[in-house]
Amino acid sequence: MIRLLYISEATDGIDEEAINGVLKSAEKNNPPLGITGLLVFGGGVFAQILEGPEQAVLQKYVNILSDKRHHNCRIVYITTTRERIFKNISMAALEALPMELEHIAELDAHGKDAIPADAFTDLMSVFFSRIQAVP
Ligand SMILES: Cc1cc2nc3c(=O)[nH]c(=O)nc-3n(C[C@H](O)[C@H](O)[C@H](O)COP(=O)(O)O)c2cc1C
Repeated sequence: MIRLLYISEATDGIDEEAINGVLKSAEKNNPPLGITGLLVFGGGVFAQILEGPEQAVLQKYVNILSDKRHHNCRIVYITTTRERIFKNISMAALEALPMELEHIAELDAHGKDAIPADAFTDLMSVFFSRIQAVP
C-alpha cells in the first residue's frame, strides 16, 4: 500500500456544496478501490491523504488532478505503508483551523525536499484527534 498527501488550491467560488459533491464521489468510488483517506479544506486550500493499493491510489490521484474544482496540485508526501491511518472511512473531511493551515503551509514549503516523516506524523495526529472527536 501507499499513502500520498497532496496540496492544491481551490478554484474561486468553491463552496460547501462543491465540497459535498467531492465527498459524495469519494464515498461512492473509494470503497471498491480500497482507498481511504482524509480531505482537509480551508483558506482556499485542499490537503488530501489518499491511502490504499499503489495502482488504485496513483490512478485516483491522476483522476483528481484534472478536476476543475482545484488546481496546482503537488504531492508533498508519499510513502509505502502496511497500515492505514484511516481504517474504516472512505474519505473523512475536516475544515482546517488556522493553526493547521500554517502546518500545511510549512509542509508545502519543503518544496521538492522530502518532508521528514515525523513532521507528517505530527500533523496527522492533530487531524486524527479531531476526527475521533466528531460524534
Ligand atoms: C480536492 C478533491 C478531492 C477529491 N477526492 C476524490 C476522492 O477521494 N475520490 C473520488 O472518487 N473522487 C474525488 N474527487 C473527485 C474526482 O476529481 C472526480 O470528480 C470524481 O472521481 C468523478 O467521479 P463520479 O463522476 O463517479 O462522481 C476529488 C476532487 C477534488 C477537487
